[in-house]
Amino acid sequence: MTTVERRFRRGVHWWQKGERRPHRRGADGRAGQHRRPEWGGGGTVRPPPERDATRHDRMMMIELQEVGLHYGGPRSGGAAGDGRPAGGVDVLRGLSFAVPAGGFRWLLGPSGAGKTSLLRLLHAAVRPTQGRLSLLGADIGRASRRELPPLRRSIGMVFQDFRLLPHLSAFDNVALPLRIAGRPEGQIRADVGEMLRWVGLARKTAARPAELSGGEQQRVAIARAVITRPRLLLADEPTGNLDDAQAERLMVLLKEMNRLGTTMVVATHNAALVERHPGPALLLEHGRLLADG
Ligand SMILES: Nc1ncnc2c1ncn2[C@@H]1O[C@H](COP(=O)(O)OP(=O)(O)O)[C@@H](O)[C@H]1O
Ligand SMILES: [Mg+2]
Repeated sequence: MTTVERRFRRGVHWWQKGERRPHRRGADGRAGQHRRPEWGGGGTVRPPPERDATRHDRMMMIELQEVGLHYGGPRSGGAAGDGRPAGGVDVLRGLSFAVPAGGFRWLLGPSGAGKTSLLRLLHAAVRPTQGRLSLLGADIGRASRRELPPLRRSIGMVFQDFRLLPHLSAFDNVALPLRIAGRPEGQIRADVGEMLRWVGLARKTAARPAELSGGEQQRVAIARAVITRPRLLLADEPTGNLDDAQAERLMVLLKEMNRLGTTMVVATHNAALVERHPGPALLLEHGRLLADG
């Protein structure tokens, strides 16, 4: 077990030193154990008595009511006002589901089903063109332009196409969200160094994205998304460029973050990975939600 995994297991969030833990620690020192487990095999965890549930526990981190997303040309809305698209394409239609704080969902569906589009909505990168979307308690359709950037900074995103900044080293790409958050440089140096060691890139900290393989770039993108320990983590095919061993290590990290309170939605094509780590799933097809659970 690596240092990062051990620290996760001890419940010590090295990237969150001095900040409040999301959950009280139990008698054996393990944090978050009163939550209902969403992963198979965690049989000893019982749901909390009602009085123990904090507001944070009860909050819906993600809530969609009849959400639609239309790309491209304008919708018809004239005299008929029937809302049917006049041009462009309805990529997502009639999505209603919720993910509670601390919840986990796989996001499954064939290529072109709308997984990336849904994650863009959940990252507040686009607003729904229909219905109501609430993230971390904020109504995205009604939020002002100024409210969205701070909200987006509290959401971690592993992009399918990585979106690393080409002129920055691996170290500086991972450090960026910590620098934006104003963390002290000494802490950044230690935390980013440890995170890059954990993803197996200790010897590539100075490399720019163009000098890294696809798998290495993906690991930088993962490190950047989790380094601030976001309350909500979205990952778009995060194992697409990883080998089996690396994908398993990533799952250890994600499950431990989830156990400690991070809400997650992870899109994947990797059926073997989902089979090894069964959990509740949102199933998309042609922009519609076929299953939730
Ligand atoms: N910016 C865009 N403009 C128009 N259509 C888009 C855009 N982005 C995605 N689409 C279309 O939306 C559909 C869903 O795409 P996407 O969300 O990327 O699916 P997935 O991630 O499941 O493969 C596809 O048919 C795609 O062509
Ligand atoms: Mg996609």
